[in-house]
Amino acid sequence: MFFKKGKSMLFLLFILMSITVVLGDPESAEDYKGPVHCASCHMDPMEDWIYSSHQKAFNDPEFQEEYQKLGSPESCLSCHTTGFDEEDGTYINEGVTCEECHGPGDTMNLDTSPELCANCHSGPYPTYEEWKDSGPSHLEATCTLCHDQHTTELLAETPTETCSSCHGTHLEAVEETKHGESGVECAECHMYITPPDFEKGIPGSTGHDFVMTSEELDCQTCHNRTLSKHDVLGTDEFACLSCHGEIHSLELKLINEDVLPREDSVRLCAQCHNERYTSWKQGTHGKPEDPEAQCVECHDPHDPVVANIPTLPVVPERRPPAGPSIPFTAGFIVIVGVLGFAIILLRWR
Ligand code: HEC
Ligand code: HEC
Ligand code: HEC
Ligand code: HEC
Ligand code: HEC
Ligand code: HEC
Ligand code: HEC
Ligand code: HEC
Ligand code: HEC
Ligand code: HEC
Ligand code: HEC
Repeated sequence: MFFKKGKSMLFLLFILMSITVVLGDPESAEDYKGPVHCASCHMDPMEDWIYSSHQKAFNDPEFQEEYQKLGSPESCLSCHTTGFDEEDGTYINEGVTCEECHGPGDTMNLDTSPELCANCHSGPYPTYEEWKDSGPSHLEATCTLCHDQHTTELLAETPTETCSSCHGTHLEAVEETKHGESGVECAECHMYITPPDFEKGIPGSTGHDFVMTSEELDCQTCHNRTLSKHDVLGTDEFACLSCHGEIHSLELKLINEDVLPREDSVRLCAQCHNERYTSWKQGTHGKPEDPEAQCVECHDPHDPVVANIPTLPVVPERRPPAGPSIPFTAGFIVIVGVLGFAIILLRWR
């Protein structure tokens, strides 16, 4: 099925290429032979490339829309075409073809370095620069260790598998959680993607530095959980991490690095609300009938002011302050009074 589709695409391409060769600059056409020529000896790379983003880099409707909106500037063509000539603004083929990466005709250059990709994956999409910043360990993972250069797909099944070859322990931790079960990918937290603004010349982001700043960490795209009061715990969403600090296993983490399961959060609250915790332990804050009632049974940790909870839990009756109670005091006064009166009476006798 795939093979058949590949063949018909090939035929179409052959016609397109013949037209390009006929119409193209005769001098350049001599050097550049076009992908169909390469395919006569290299069928496998051809079949991979033909459905790739590189093949359609010029005809891609999204590119065409932006390109035409800006009045079709030549500056776009150096990366979206093959054999672009800056001098006269001409090009040999539309899209990124074999010869853009392997050199024209019989050159058959084999450059496996990320610098080859850097020719284009920089500027509006600064992937190469981000990758350079990703730390010495990631520099061992070059572009083609994670991406198939011909299909432009990932080599692994999923983005997460791409990371797990080196970060097995993180994968194990995530797999056990609701995030793992729901298929949340490492990349969804670690790779921050924004489109560039071509009009203003502002580059986008492709997340290849893998590290997060506060604006990049975004729990809210998936969790609609605005914090009140506890929003003071960190800049933006880093506030979430001051409690959900063991983020991969989704456990809670204390300031002293102790890890608690989410169901057992009293010590988490205690580290910041010591006075309330003490009174809770003494039974004067919390449920007297259930002294083990955790703080979160009455306080939503994300919106902790009790008055904001629509259905208030059983709130304990205000207990009298420690010390003599009113009936006790009254009784005491009565007894002392009676005794004193009796003594005075006895004395008078
Ligand atoms: C007439 C057949 C033929 C054509 C046409 C052809 N090649 Fe090759 N190519 C070869 C052979 C043979 C090798 C050597 C294979 C080997 O060493 O395993 C080769 C090797 C290569 C290599 C690997 C070089 C290396 O150092 O291992 C690349 C890349 C390559 N060709 C790209 C191209 C491109 C791009 C085109 C089209 C512009 C092309 N070839 C056209 C036959 C051809
Ligand atoms: C320095 C090389 C370079 C230049 C110059 C360049 N692009 Fe691109 N462009 C790329 C790369 C690389 C991608 C793919 C990036 C990705 O998906 O992360 C891309 C992707 C795009 C996309 C997204 C296509 C899609 O399907 O997602 C659009 C739209 C686009 N470019 C428009 C333009 C326009 C308009 C210009 C001229 C103002 C331009 N590009 C100039 C390298 C370049
Ligand atoms: C975006 C750049 C790029 C394009 C476009 C491209 N290649 Fe490659 N190609 C590479 C890189 C990089 C390698 C080496 C990958 C590695 O070994 O890490 C490679 C490897 C090869 C090899 C060596 C054997 C193999 O399959 O690994 C051949 C042959 C080849 N390409 C042919 C082609 C042909 C034919 C086309 C067009 C149909 C093409 N390439 C398009 C970048 C490209
Ligand atoms: C001549 C410029 C050029 C070179 C060199 C180049 N690319 Fe690209 N690449 C592009 C453009 C342009 C696109 C966007 C195509 C589109 O979707 O419109 C792209 C798309 C991609 C995509 C898919 C992005 C998407 O949104 O679908 C991947 C992955 C990719 N390139 C990887 C590589 C790798 C790896 C290398 C180096 C081996 C490389 N590219 C070399 C220009 C280039
Ligand atoms: C450690 C693995 C890894 C390395 C190294 C790596 N990438 Fe990626 N890349 C990814 C992952 C994961 C994605 C996200 C794919 C997704 O979410 O679908 C991605 C996405 C991309 C995309 C956008 C694809 C799309 O579908 O939008 C481009 C383009 C790209 N990478 C190019 C490169 C280039 C160029 C290099 C080398 C400078 C590189 N990558 C290095 C793992 C890697
Ligand atoms: C080739 C192996 C390799 C691959 C593939 C890889 N990493 Fe790493 N990564 C490392 C090593 C080694 C370190 C440094 C030791 C550590 O912190 O665990 C590291 C560190 C990190 C860090 C911490 C960086 C810092 O500055 O604190 C993050 C975040 C990270 N990787 C995310 C990812 C993500 C996300 C992926 C997949 C897209 C990925 N890594 C793929 C090897 C790899
Ligand atoms: C829900 C979002 C999320 C997911 C999913 C996620 N991470 Fe993280 N990861 C983070 C955050 C947030 C930090 C930073 C923690 C900090 O700064 O205290 C981090 C830190 C890291 C670090 C560096 C610190 C450390 O713990 O060693 C690595 C490496 C890492 N993650 C790898 C991965 C890998 C691999 C995956 C996928 C299996 C993954 N992460 C999935 C949010 C996530
Ligand atoms: C890509 C989407 C996505 C992102 C980003 C994300 N989550 Fe989740 N999260 C989910 C899904 C899906 C679930 C499981 C369904 C549910 O409980 O809502 C979940 C569940 C959870 C749970 C509850 C697990 C359970 O056992 O009930 C916690 C806690 C959580 N996420 C915290 C975070 C934090 C903190 C961040 C930011 C660092 C974050 N998530 C980022 C999608 C995401
Ligand atoms: C003050 C500490 C604290 C902060 C800050 C915090 N959480 Fe929580 N979160 C908890 C505790 C404790 C639980 C467990 C509650 C329970 O068991 O009833 C929890 C549970 C959750 C759950 C799963 C249970 C549910 O309510 O659906 C999600 C999802 C979640 N938090 C997301 C977030 C996100 C996203 C942020 C940041 C916007 C955040 N949390 C900030 C302490 C906190
Ligand atoms: C890392 C420290 C920290 C942790 C952990 C923490 N809190 Fe807080 N909490 C604060 C801060 C700071 C405020 C804001 C006080 C203010 O606005 O005056 C606050 C506010 C509150 C308020 C509202 C107080 C008021 O004056 O309106 C309640 C109730 C509360 N937290 C309960 C909890 C509960 C329950 C937990 C455990 C799930 C918890 N907190 C965990 C630091 C923390
Ligand atoms: C049985 C329900 C219940 C439990 C359990 C509980 N609280 Fe409260 N808490 C309340 C109510 C109701 C208020 C508001 C009345 C008040 O100010 O005394 C309150 C008030 C607070 C306040 C002050 C908020 C304000 O508006 O002034 C803090 C801080 C607090 N609790 C923290 C905690 C912590 C920490 C724990 C666990 C150690 C905890 N609470 C356990 C019901 C509870």
